[in-house]
Amino acid sequence: MPAELTVPRECTFDPDDWRIIARYWYPIALATEVGAAPLGVKLLDQPLVVYRTDDSRTVIANDICPHRGTPLSLGRGDARGITCAYHGFRFGAGGRCVDVPAHPQAKIPSRLHLRTYPAVERYGLIWTCLAADPDTEPDIPTHPHWDDAGFQRINCPWIDIAAFAGRQIEGFLDVAHFGFVHLKSFGNPDNPVVPDYAAAPTPDGFEVEYWSTVGNYPIGVVDRSKPGFQWLRHFRLHVPFTATLVVHFPDEGKLSIMNAASPVSARMTRMFAPICRNFDTDQPEQAVHDFNRIVFEEDRAIVEVQKPENLPLDPRLEVNVPADRSSIAYRRALRGLGLGSFFTA
Ligand code: FES
Repeated sequence: MPAELTVPRECTFDPDDWRIIARYWYPIALATEVGAAPLGVKLLDQPLVVYRTDDSRTVIANDICPHRGTPLSLGRGDARGITCAYHGFRFGAGGRCVDVPAHPQAKIPSRLHLRTYPAVERYGLIWTCLAADPDTEPDIPTHPHWDDAGFQRINCPWIDIAAFAGRQIEGFLDVAHFGFVHLKSFGNPDNPVVPDYAAAPTPDGFEVEYWSTVGNYPIGVVDRSKPGFQWLRHFRLHVPFTATLVVHFPDEGKLSIMNAASPVSARMTRMFAPICRNFDTDQPEQAVHDFNRIVFEEDRAIVEVQKPENLPLDPRLEVNVPADRSSIAYRRALRGLGLGSFFTA
């Protein structure tokens, strides 16, 4: 059974909805960001501190010192653990308090150990869950082709978006905005028509196979399309806030993108994007970082101004057209989790 859940102070979610989405796994940092020094992050309004100990284990704990409430991310770290900035208490492997400098010989009470959460490193990211069930395997979404031979793995820098994760994910799944929003990256304003497509349920959410003549190459570089070529975009949604997209290029080329939206709060999302591909594998990663940044900045300009800020799950609250089948399926999947009030207008 998961440990008892405590809704964070100043929680921006409805508490009942928070308890539901807290059961899922989210990335909170790039693996390369985490070392001996304490790193402060936030997930679902819960401040967390992340550090590695000398056995290379990652510790994720509430970012608060059990002694007098100082954020541990203000402290320092070395191979023996992290040290609180106020009175120098040291916390090591597993979040255990291992040193109280004012009383070096005294027995350390167990109440000084940190409240920790599980840590899993996957796709170059550190994942955690605030309400993990220790009796079940971590339910981390699958990244298509990440482990396949011949694929180059690229971890783009994260992007902060001042919007709700559900709105960001819905934008990632949307297929009708390319020719209007992505004019600096890959969209074609002369090709706005959305061909028919359908969403099929999966155990984790749903998937969509979408065929169209809209290409997926950066504007200004070599056009990879061939006469008559139809681009296949294969979307998969893993509830609540992770989606993957495999774009099929000519000559068996594949570009696989994970959009892992980490809900910092109901109004802030940290977007992680591990990407892999089996073409241009000798090309520098920086060009992929730059292109990814352009695409997601284009999306951000829309997502940050949508109203209501949350995603209305009641289909009567916004108007739908056939091109919206993905977002209709997404909202249905979220309703299926039991989510309710904080998504409504
Ligand atoms: Fe952290 Fe006292 S507040 S050691």
